Amino acid sequence: MFKPLSPISTLTIFILVLVIVPFPVSRAEETPPQTFSIPAKTAADYIHSVIEANRTIYSEVIVERLGVTIDLPATENWEKENTLPLPAQFLLLSSQTSNAKKIGMTYRLMSLWPINPKNGPKTRFEEKGLQEILKNPEAPYTHIFSTNGKKFYKAIYPDHAVTKACVTCHNNHPKSPKRDFKLNDVMGGISIMFPLDKRSKKTESGDYLIPAEVVADYIHTVLEADRKVYAEYVVNRLQQKNIVYASEYWWEDNALLLPAQFLLNASELILNKQIGLDFKLISPWPINSHNSAANEFERIGLETVLRQPTRPYIDYVKIGGTMYFHAVYPDFAVSYSCVSCHNNHPNSPKRDFKLNDVMGAVVMSFPLE
Ligand code: HEC
Ligand code: HEC
Repeated sequence: MFKPLSPISTLTIFILVLVIVPFPVSRAEETPPQTFSIPAKTAADYIHSVIEANRTIYSEVIVERLGVTIDLPATENWEKENTLPLPAQFLLLSSQTSNAKKIGMTYRLMSLWPINPKNGPKTRFEEKGLQEILKNPEAPYTHIFSTNGKKFYKAIYPDHAVTKACVTCHNNHPKSPKRDFKLNDVMGGISIMFPLDKRSKKTESGDYLIPAEVVADYIHTVLEADRKVYAEYVVNRLQQKNIVYASEYWWEDNALLLPAQFLLNASELILNKQIGLDFKLISPWPINSHNSAANEFERIGLETVLRQPTRPYIDYVKIGGTMYFHAVYPDFAVSYSCVSCHNNHPNSPKRDFKLNDVMGAVVMSFPLE
Protein backbone atom coordinates (compact mmCIF):
# COMPACT_ATOMS: atom_id res chain seq x y z
CA MET A 1 0.00 0.00 0.00
CA PHE A 2 2.84 2.38 0.82
CA LYS A 3 5.00 3.35 -2.13
CA PRO A 4 8.64 2.24 -1.97
CA LEU A 5 11.23 4.95 -1.99
CA SER A 6 14.32 5.25 -4.07
CA PRO A 7 17.34 6.07 -1.95
CA ILE A 8 17.88 9.62 -3.19
CA SER A 9 18.67 11.93 -0.32
CA THR A 10 17.51 15.51 0.12
CA LEU A 11 21.07 16.56 -0.40
CA THR A 12 21.34 14.92 -3.84
CA ILE A 13 18.10 16.54 -4.95
CA PHE A 14 19.18 19.87 -3.54
CA ILE A 15 22.49 19.67 -5.42
CA LEU A 16 20.66 18.66 -8.62
CA VAL A 17 18.30 21.60 -8.23
CA LEU A 18 21.22 23.96 -7.74
CA VAL A 19 22.93 22.63 -10.85
CA ILE A 20 19.85 22.60 -13.06
CA VAL A 21 17.94 25.65 -11.89
CA PRO A 22 19.85 28.84 -12.57
CA PHE A 23 19.14 31.00 -9.54
CA PRO A 24 21.34 31.97 -6.60
CA VAL A 25 21.36 29.91 -3.38
CA SER A 26 19.96 32.70 -1.23
CA ARG A 27 16.79 32.88 -3.32
CA ALA A 28 16.40 29.12 -3.25
CA GLU A 29 16.45 29.29 0.52
CA GLU A 30 13.90 32.09 0.75
CA THR A 31 11.29 30.78 -1.68
CA PRO A 32 11.30 27.08 -2.40
CA PRO A 33 11.24 26.33 -6.14
CA GLN A 34 7.84 25.80 -7.68
CA THR A 35 8.12 22.00 -7.95
CA PHE A 36 8.29 21.78 -4.15
CA SER A 37 5.01 23.58 -3.62
CA ILE A 38 1.41 22.57 -4.21
CA PRO A 39 -1.69 24.63 -5.08
CA ALA A 40 -3.66 26.06 -2.12
CA LYS A 41 -6.74 24.16 -3.32
CA THR A 42 -4.88 20.81 -3.14
CA ALA A 43 -3.52 21.73 0.30
CA ALA A 44 -7.08 22.40 1.52
CA ASP A 45 -8.27 19.12 -0.07
CA TYR A 46 -5.60 17.18 1.86
CA ILE A 47 -6.42 18.87 5.18
CA HIS A 48 -10.14 18.31 4.59
CA SER A 49 -9.64 14.64 3.68
CA VAL A 50 -8.09 13.99 7.11
CA ILE A 51 -10.78 15.91 9.01
CA GLU A 52 -13.50 14.13 7.03
CA ALA A 53 -11.99 10.63 7.36
CA ASN A 54 -11.53 10.99 11.12
CA ARG A 55 -15.04 12.42 11.48
CA THR A 56 -16.48 9.51 9.49
CA ILE A 57 -14.63 6.87 11.53
CA TYR A 58 -15.58 8.49 14.82
CA SER A 59 -19.26 8.75 13.77
CA GLU A 60 -19.57 5.30 12.21
CA VAL A 61 -17.25 3.05 14.19
CA ILE A 62 -17.49 4.69 17.60
CA VAL A 63 -20.73 6.66 17.96
CA GLU A 64 -23.13 4.72 15.74
CA ARG A 65 -21.74 1.25 16.48
CA LEU A 66 -21.22 1.51 20.24
CA GLY A 67 -24.61 3.23 20.58
CA VAL A 68 -26.20 0.07 19.20
CA THR A 69 -23.92 -2.71 20.50
CA ILE A 70 -23.20 -1.60 24.07
CA ASP A 71 -25.73 1.21 24.56
CA LEU A 72 -23.01 3.82 24.93
CA PRO A 73 -24.50 7.07 23.60
CA ALA A 74 -22.88 10.33 22.49
CA THR A 75 -24.26 13.20 24.55
CA GLU A 76 -23.64 16.93 24.95
CA ASN A 77 -22.67 16.52 28.62
CA TRP A 78 -20.30 13.63 27.89
CA GLU A 79 -17.86 14.53 30.66
CA LYS A 80 -20.48 14.37 33.43
CA GLU A 81 -22.47 11.54 31.93
CA ASN A 82 -19.48 9.27 31.11
CA THR A 83 -20.61 9.03 27.50
CA LEU A 84 -18.99 9.74 24.12
CA PRO A 85 -18.48 13.34 22.95
CA LEU A 86 -20.79 14.29 20.05
CA PRO A 87 -19.13 14.21 16.62
CA ALA A 88 -19.35 18.05 16.58
CA GLN A 89 -17.65 18.23 19.98
CA PHE A 90 -14.93 15.82 18.82
CA LEU A 91 -14.22 18.16 15.90
CA LEU A 92 -14.30 21.22 18.15
CA LEU A 93 -11.87 19.65 20.65
CA SER A 94 -9.59 18.70 17.80
CA SER A 95 -9.69 22.14 16.19
CA GLN A 96 -8.95 23.75 19.58
CA THR A 97 -5.99 21.38 20.09
CA SER A 98 -4.77 22.16 16.59
CA ASN A 99 -5.29 25.96 16.94
CA ALA A 100 -3.26 25.92 20.16
CA LYS A 101 -0.24 24.98 18.03
CA LYS A 102 -0.51 28.38 16.30
CA ILE A 103 0.54 27.14 12.87
CA GLY A 104 -1.86 29.53 11.14
CA MET A 105 -4.31 26.96 9.77
CA THR A 106 -7.73 26.80 11.45
CA TYR A 107 -10.92 24.83 10.83
CA ARG A 108 -14.46 24.76 12.13
CA LEU A 109 -17.86 23.15 11.67
CA MET A 110 -20.90 25.25 10.79
CA SER A 111 -24.38 25.12 9.38
CA LEU A 112 -27.28 27.21 8.09
CA TRP A 113 -29.48 25.36 10.62
CA PRO A 114 -27.26 25.25 13.70
CA ILE A 115 -28.33 23.62 16.96
CA ASN A 116 -25.79 25.92 18.60
CA PRO A 117 -26.10 29.49 17.23
CA LYS A 118 -22.30 29.83 17.56
CA ASN A 119 -22.03 27.41 14.66
CA GLY A 120 -23.94 29.64 12.26
CA PRO A 121 -22.18 31.49 9.41
CA LYS A 122 -20.18 34.49 10.70
CA THR A 123 -19.61 36.32 7.42
CA ARG A 124 -21.42 36.87 4.10
CA PHE A 125 -18.84 34.58 2.49
CA GLU A 126 -19.60 31.77 4.93
CA GLU A 127 -23.33 32.12 4.37
CA LYS A 128 -22.87 32.12 0.59
CA GLY A 129 -20.44 29.18 0.84
CA LEU A 130 -22.92 27.10 2.86
CA GLN A 131 -25.65 27.83 0.29
CA GLU A 132 -23.35 26.99 -2.64
CA ILE A 133 -22.23 23.60 -1.26
CA LEU A 134 -25.88 22.63 -0.88
CA LYS A 135 -26.37 23.26 -4.60
CA ASN A 136 -23.04 21.79 -5.62
CA PRO A 137 -21.76 19.34 -2.99
CA GLU A 138 -19.10 17.98 -5.35
CA ALA A 139 -16.73 20.90 -4.85
CA PRO A 140 -15.72 23.15 -1.96
CA TYR A 141 -16.55 26.85 -2.09
CA THR A 142 -13.25 28.73 -2.05
CA HIS A 143 -12.16 32.31 -1.62
CA ILE A 144 -9.07 34.46 -1.09
CA PHE A 145 -9.47 37.46 1.20
CA SER A 146 -7.48 40.04 3.12
CA THR A 147 -7.94 41.14 6.68
CA ASN A 148 -5.65 43.49 8.69
CA GLY A 149 -3.23 43.51 5.76
CA LYS A 150 -2.93 39.71 5.75
CA LYS A 151 -4.10 37.43 2.95
CA PHE A 152 -5.91 34.12 3.60
CA TYR A 153 -7.19 31.16 1.62
CA LYS A 154 -10.52 29.80 2.81
CA ALA A 155 -12.49 26.78 1.59
CA ILE A 156 -15.87 25.47 2.75
CA TYR A 157 -16.52 21.74 2.26
CA PRO A 158 -19.91 20.01 2.59
CA ASP A 159 -20.50 18.01 5.78
CA HIS A 160 -22.65 14.96 5.05
CA ALA A 161 -25.02 12.95 7.23
CA VAL A 162 -22.84 9.83 7.05
CA THR A 163 -24.81 7.84 9.64
CA LYS A 164 -28.41 7.52 10.78
CA ALA A 165 -27.33 8.90 14.16
CA CYS A 166 -26.54 12.30 12.55
CA VAL A 167 -30.05 12.54 11.17
CA THR A 168 -31.95 11.14 14.17
CA CYS A 169 -30.17 13.31 16.70
CA HIS A 170 -30.50 16.58 14.74
CA ASN A 171 -34.11 15.99 13.67
CA ASN A 172 -35.12 15.32 17.27
CA HIS A 173 -32.96 17.88 19.06
CA PRO A 174 -35.16 20.53 20.76
CA LYS A 175 -32.85 23.33 19.54
CA SER A 176 -32.58 22.17 15.93
CA PRO A 177 -34.20 24.60 13.46
CA LYS A 178 -34.47 21.85 10.81
CA ARG A 179 -36.17 18.47 11.37
CA ASP A 180 -36.23 16.78 8.00
CA PHE A 181 -32.60 15.80 7.42
CA LYS A 182 -32.13 12.55 5.52
CA LEU A 183 -29.16 10.15 5.32
CA ASN A 184 -26.35 11.58 3.12
CA ASP A 185 -27.83 15.11 3.13
CA VAL A 186 -25.46 18.03 3.39
CA MET A 187 -26.05 19.10 6.99
CA GLY A 188 -23.52 21.90 7.11
CA GLY A 189 -19.96 22.70 6.17
CA ILE A 190 -16.37 22.43 7.35
CA SER A 191 -14.39 25.59 6.76
CA ILE A 192 -10.61 25.46 6.46
CA MET A 193 -8.49 28.60 6.42
CA PHE A 194 -4.75 29.25 6.15
CA PRO A 195 -2.56 32.29 5.49
CA LEU A 196 -1.10 33.18 2.10
CA ASP A 197 2.04 34.70 3.59
CA LYS A 198 5.47 35.32 2.15
CA ARG A 199 6.16 31.57 2.05
CA SER A 200 3.42 31.15 -0.59
CA LYS A 201 3.79 32.14 -4.22
CA LYS A 202 1.30 33.51 -6.74
CA THR A 203 1.33 31.91 -10.17
CA GLU A 204 0.60 33.66 -13.47
CA SER A 205 -2.92 32.22 -13.48
CA GLY A 206 -3.59 33.80 -10.05
CA ASP A 207 -3.41 30.55 -8.03
CA TYR A 208 -1.31 30.36 -4.90
CA LEU A 209 1.32 27.71 -4.25
CA ILE A 210 2.11 26.60 -0.69
CA PRO A 211 5.44 24.95 0.20
CA ALA A 212 5.05 21.18 0.71
CA GLU A 213 6.58 21.34 4.21
CA VAL A 214 4.00 23.91 5.32
CA VAL A 215 1.14 21.80 3.92
CA ALA A 216 2.56 18.70 5.65
CA ASP A 217 2.60 20.60 8.96
CA TYR A 218 -1.08 21.49 8.49
CA ILE A 219 -2.03 17.89 7.69
CA HIS A 220 0.07 16.49 10.51
CA THR A 221 -1.39 18.95 13.03
CA VAL A 222 -4.92 17.70 12.26
CA LEU A 223 -3.80 14.07 12.50
CA GLU A 224 -2.05 14.69 15.80
CA ALA A 225 -4.95 16.70 17.25
CA ASP A 226 -7.52 14.02 16.37
CA ARG A 227 -5.16 11.35 17.70
CA LYS A 228 -4.80 13.21 20.98
CA VAL A 229 -8.55 13.85 21.34
CA TYR A 230 -9.33 10.20 20.64
CA ALA A 231 -6.63 8.76 22.93
CA GLU A 232 -7.31 11.20 25.78
CA TYR A 233 -11.02 12.08 25.79
CA VAL A 234 -12.36 8.83 24.43
CA VAL A 235 -9.96 5.91 25.14
CA ASN A 236 -8.23 7.06 28.32
CA ARG A 237 -11.29 8.60 29.99
CA LEU A 238 -13.68 5.71 29.28
CA GLN A 239 -11.04 3.08 30.19
CA GLN A 240 -10.35 4.73 33.53
CA LYS A 241 -14.08 4.80 34.27
CA ASN A 242 -14.36 1.09 33.33
CA ILE A 243 -16.97 1.88 30.69
CA VAL A 244 -15.34 0.51 27.54
CA TYR A 245 -11.83 -0.54 26.46
CA ALA A 246 -9.73 -0.21 23.33
CA SER A 247 -8.95 -3.54 21.73
CA GLU A 248 -7.19 -4.85 18.62
CA TYR A 249 -10.29 -7.02 18.16
CA TRP A 250 -12.63 -4.05 18.55
CA TRP A 251 -15.12 -5.50 16.05
CA GLU A 252 -15.60 -8.83 17.88
CA ASP A 253 -15.25 -7.24 21.32
CA ASN A 254 -17.64 -4.31 20.67
CA ALA A 255 -14.78 -2.16 21.91
CA LEU A 256 -13.05 1.07 20.93
CA LEU A 257 -10.61 0.65 18.08
CA LEU A 258 -6.94 1.28 18.89
CA PRO A 259 -5.59 4.75 18.14
CA ALA A 260 -3.28 3.07 15.57
CA GLN A 261 -6.27 1.40 13.91
CA PHE A 262 -8.11 4.74 13.90
CA LEU A 263 -5.19 6.34 12.01
CA LEU A 264 -4.80 3.42 9.59
CA ASN A 265 -8.51 3.30 8.82
CA ALA A 266 -8.44 7.03 8.07
CA SER A 267 -5.46 6.49 5.77
CA GLU A 268 -7.39 3.70 4.00
CA LEU A 269 -10.46 5.94 3.47
CA ILE A 270 -8.22 8.65 2.01
CA LEU A 271 -6.40 6.15 -0.21
CA ASN A 272 -9.79 5.21 -1.69
CA LYS A 273 -10.36 8.86 -2.63
CA GLN A 274 -7.20 8.67 -4.79
CA ILE A 275 -6.07 12.20 -4.04
CA GLY A 276 -2.46 11.16 -3.46
CA LEU A 277 -2.16 11.68 0.31
CA ASP A 278 -0.93 8.68 2.31
CA PHE A 279 0.22 8.12 5.90
CA LYS A 280 1.02 5.33 8.38
CA LEU A 281 2.71 4.65 11.72
CA ILE A 282 6.17 3.16 12.29
CA SER A 283 8.31 2.52 15.33
CA PRO A 284 11.69 1.10 16.34
CA TRP A 285 9.77 -0.83 19.07
CA PRO A 286 6.72 -2.04 17.17
CA ILE A 287 4.03 -4.20 18.74
CA ASN A 288 3.30 -5.36 15.21
CA SER A 289 6.52 -6.07 13.28
CA HIS A 290 4.82 -4.82 10.08
CA ASN A 291 5.17 -1.37 11.61
CA SER A 292 8.98 -1.36 11.50
CA ALA A 293 10.78 1.10 9.21
CA ALA A 294 10.31 -0.27 5.69
CA ASN A 295 13.28 1.36 3.96
CA GLU A 296 16.36 3.53 4.37
CA PHE A 297 14.40 6.80 4.39
CA GLU A 298 12.09 5.59 7.17
CA ARG A 299 15.02 4.21 9.20
CA ILE A 300 16.98 7.46 9.02
CA GLY A 301 13.78 9.43 9.59
CA LEU A 302 12.99 7.49 12.77
CA GLU A 303 16.54 7.87 14.08
CA THR A 304 16.49 11.59 13.33
CA VAL A 305 13.14 12.40 14.97
CA LEU A 306 14.01 10.30 18.02
CA ARG A 307 17.14 12.40 18.48
CA GLN A 308 15.53 15.68 17.48
CA PRO A 309 11.76 15.60 17.86
CA THR A 310 11.18 19.30 17.13
CA ARG A 311 10.99 19.06 13.34
CA PRO A 312 10.01 16.32 10.86
CA TYR A 313 12.57 14.57 8.69
CA ILE A 314 11.73 15.27 5.04
CA ASP A 315 12.73 14.25 1.55
CA TYR A 316 11.68 14.78 -2.07
CA VAL A 317 11.77 11.68 -4.25
CA LYS A 318 10.97 11.03 -7.89
CA ILE A 319 8.93 7.84 -8.41
CA GLY A 320 7.82 6.85 -11.91
CA GLY A 321 8.18 10.38 -13.25
CA THR A 322 6.29 12.02 -10.37
CA MET A 323 7.96 14.01 -7.62
CA TYR A 324 6.80 13.05 -4.10
CA PHE A 325 7.14 14.78 -0.77
CA HIS A 326 7.89 12.42 2.15
CA ALA A 327 8.02 13.29 5.83
CA VAL A 328 8.61 11.43 9.09
CA TYR A 329 7.00 13.17 12.10
CA PRO A 330 7.64 12.11 15.71
CA ASP A 331 4.62 10.39 17.30
CA PHE A 332 4.28 11.36 20.97
CA ALA A 333 2.69 9.57 23.91
CA VAL A 334 0.02 12.28 24.18
CA SER A 335 -2.15 10.36 26.63
CA TYR A 336 -1.56 7.98 29.52
CA SER A 337 -3.50 5.36 27.55
CA CYS A 338 -0.66 5.24 24.94
CA VAL A 339 1.92 4.49 27.61
CA SER A 340 -0.05 1.99 29.66
CA CYS A 341 -1.22 -0.06 26.72
CA HIS A 342 2.20 -0.33 25.01
CA ASN A 343 4.09 -0.97 28.27
CA ASN A 344 1.70 -3.80 29.14
CA HIS A 345 1.16 -5.32 25.70
CA PRO A 346 2.60 -8.87 25.48
CA ASN A 347 4.14 -8.14 22.04
CA SER A 348 5.70 -4.80 22.94
CA PRO A 349 9.52 -4.89 22.86
CA LYS A 350 9.70 -1.75 25.06
CA ARG A 351 8.02 -1.42 28.46
CA ASP A 352 9.25 1.84 29.91
CA PHE A 353 7.50 4.45 27.80
CA LYS A 354 6.63 7.64 29.68
CA LEU A 355 4.06 10.36 28.96
CA ASN A 356 5.23 12.64 26.08
CA ASP A 357 7.97 10.22 24.94
CA VAL A 358 8.45 9.74 21.22
CA MET A 359 6.90 6.30 20.68
CA GLY A 360 7.42 6.09 16.93
CA ALA A 361 6.60 8.19 13.91
CA VAL A 362 3.94 9.14 11.41
CA VAL A 363 5.18 8.75 7.82
CA MET A 364 3.37 10.96 5.33
CA SER A 365 3.64 11.33 1.57
CA PHE A 366 1.93 13.19 -1.25
CA PRO A 367 2.71 13.98 -4.90
CA LEU A 368 4.00 17.42 -5.87
CA GLU A 369 2.59 17.55 -9.40
C1 HEC B 1 -26.36 12.61 19.67
C2 HEC B 1 -26.61 13.84 18.96
C3 HEC B 1 -25.82 14.21 17.72
C4 HEC B 1 -25.27 13.38 16.78
C5 HEC B 1 -25.24 11.88 16.74
C6 HEC B 1 -24.71 14.27 15.77
N1 HEC B 1 -24.90 15.57 16.11
FE1 HEC B 1 -24.34 17.17 15.05
N2 HEC B 1 -24.63 18.33 16.64
C7 HEC B 1 -25.32 17.96 17.77
C8 HEC B 1 -25.31 19.06 18.70
C9 HEC B 1 -25.95 19.08 20.09
C10 HEC B 1 -24.59 20.12 18.08
C11 HEC B 1 -24.24 21.47 18.67
C12 HEC B 1 -22.91 21.30 19.39
C13 HEC B 1 -22.41 22.59 19.94
O1 HEC B 1 -22.92 23.03 20.98
O2 HEC B 1 -21.50 23.20 19.31
C14 HEC B 1 -24.20 19.61 16.77
C15 HEC B 1 -23.51 20.35 15.82
C16 HEC B 1 -23.42 19.98 14.49
C17 HEC B 1 -23.06 20.86 13.41
C18 HEC B 1 -22.71 22.34 13.54
C19 HEC B 1 -23.99 23.16 13.44
C20 HEC B 1 -24.91 22.99 14.60
O3 HEC B 1 -25.94 22.28 14.42
O4 HEC B 1 -24.62 23.52 15.73
C21 HEC B 1 -23.08 20.12 12.26
C22 HEC B 1 -22.80 20.59 10.86
C23 HEC B 1 -23.46 18.78 12.64
N3 HEC B 1 -23.64 18.73 14.00
C24 HEC B 1 -23.56 17.73 11.77
C25 HEC B 1 -23.62 16.40 12.21
C26 HEC B 1 -23.28 15.25 11.41
C27 HEC B 1 -22.90 15.27 9.95
C28 HEC B 1 -23.37 14.16 12.24
C29 HEC B 1 -23.05 12.72 11.93
C30 HEC B 1 -21.70 12.51 11.45
C31 HEC B 1 -23.80 14.64 13.54
N4 HEC B 1 -23.94 16.00 13.49
C32 HEC B 1 -24.07 13.82 14.62
C33 HEC B 1 -25.90 16.75 18.01
C34 HEC B 1 -25.58 15.59 17.30
C1 HEC C 1 -5.25 -0.21 23.99
C2 HEC C 1 -3.92 -0.36 23.48
C3 HEC C 1 -3.22 0.76 22.76
C4 HEC C 1 -3.35 2.11 22.95
C5 HEC C 1 -4.25 2.86 23.91
C6 HEC C 1 -2.39 2.72 22.04
N1 HEC C 1 -1.75 1.78 21.31
FE1 HEC C 1 -0.36 2.11 19.93
N2 HEC C 1 -0.58 0.23 19.26
C7 HEC C 1 -1.23 -0.78 19.94
C8 HEC C 1 -1.17 -1.98 19.14
C9 HEC C 1 -1.77 -3.33 19.51
C10 HEC C 1 -0.46 -1.65 17.96
C11 HEC C 1 -0.18 -2.56 16.78
C12 HEC C 1 -1.31 -2.38 15.80
C13 HEC C 1 -1.10 -3.18 14.54
O1 HEC C 1 -1.27 -4.39 14.58
O2 HEC C 1 -0.75 -2.55 13.52
C14 HEC C 1 -0.09 -0.26 18.09
C15 HEC C 1 0.68 0.43 17.16
C16 HEC C 1 1.30 1.65 17.43
C17 HEC C 1 2.38 2.22 16.67
C18 HEC C 1 3.03 1.58 15.46
C19 HEC C 1 4.18 0.69 15.93
C20 HEC C 1 3.73 -0.54 16.69
O3 HEC C 1 3.88 -0.55 17.94
O4 HEC C 1 3.21 -1.51 16.05
C21 HEC C 1 2.70 3.40 17.27
C22 HEC C 1 3.78 4.36 16.84
C23 HEC C 1 1.80 3.57 18.37
N3 HEC C 1 0.95 2.49 18.45
C24 HEC C 1 1.80 4.67 19.22
C25 HEC C 1 0.73 4.92 20.08
C26 HEC C 1 0.42 6.23 20.65
C27 HEC C 1 1.23 7.48 20.47
C28 HEC C 1 -0.73 6.06 21.37
C29 HEC C 1 -1.54 7.13 22.06
C30 HEC C 1 -1.96 8.23 21.22
C31 HEC C 1 -1.11 4.66 21.29
N4 HEC C 1 -0.19 4.01 20.50
C32 HEC C 1 -2.19 4.10 21.94
C33 HEC C 1 -1.85 -0.65 21.14
C34 HEC C 1 -2.24 0.56 21.69
